[in-house]
Amino acid sequence: MTSQGYGAPYAAEPRHPGWPARLGPLTVRAGTVALRPVRLLDGGEWSRIRLRDREYLEEWEPTQAGHWHERNAHWAWPPQWASLRGLARRGQCLPFAITVDGAFAGQITIGNIIRASLRSAWVGYWVSSRLAGGGVATAAVALVTDHALAVAGLHRLEATVRPENSASLRVLAKVGYRQEGLFLRYLDVAGAWRDHLCFAITDEDRGEGLASRLVAKGLATPPEQR
Ligand SMILES: CC(C)(COP(=O)(O)OP(=O)(O)OC[C@H]1O[C@@H](n2cnc3c(N)ncnc32)[C@H](O)[C@@H]1OP(=O)(O)O)[C@@H](O)C(=O)NCCC(=O)NCCS
Repeated sequence: MTSQGYGAPYAAEPRHPGWPARLGPLTVRAGTVALRPVRLLDGGEWSRIRLRDREYLEEWEPTQAGHWHERNAHWAWPPQWASLRGLARRGQCLPFAITVDGAFAGQITIGNIIRASLRSAWVGYWVSSRLAGGGVATAAVALVTDHALAVAGLHRLEATVRPENSASLRVLAKVGYRQEGLFLRYLDVAGAWRDHLCFAITDEDRGEGLASRLVAKGLATPPEQR
């Protein structure tokens, strides 16, 4: 414990760099990926995709009260959007919609932002099953990580993933997150306390940029080179 005590990292800071923002584009197999703030008008597509993709998503998402159909109905979006917008205005999260060729395709959120001497947050994401394996999440994680570390002033990002979630493990490996540990019975997911692997990246790992690294590895192209 430092001389300032545990309270110091949680102290509010007057400015919240990096929000609002538009990130990308970056072109991958599935199309051209860009990130923008979530909008009230995303509700229709958000609900349509999430009702269709229940089986694909529910296995990996934190347990919540209520039935999937109620929680993901069109009318469930406005309060979620308002809550995300409020957190973003207070500098506590960066809630992005992922778009592919201009259409809503999922979400990526930097959450639980803590500044001062910690400057840390988590990253969470989901992508429509119709685009699975198309490189969308990889591009989105690279773009948002570059932004959080280079522009929003964070030093470290963490991602926690169930060991069974092969697709998400692969995404983090491609972007360059390193595995740091195993959290036992960490999070209530799909109705039970699940172990999670902890991955992290810090600003020192970013080099010339993670999106540029994807391009150099041939995993993405800036759109003009397509
Ligand atoms: C995880 C998720 C975001 C990945 O999105 P995506 O756009 O398909 O990801 P990408 O295409 O960028 O990369 C996925 C990689 O995993 C691989 N993959 C997919 N399913 C796999 C499996 N069952 N086993 C091994 N690899 C798998 C893909 O082949 C791809 O790797 P490649 O590019 O080397 O071929 C998406 O599956 C999803 O939304 N899942 C449900 C929600 C979720 O799990 N969120 C993350 C919680 S930690």
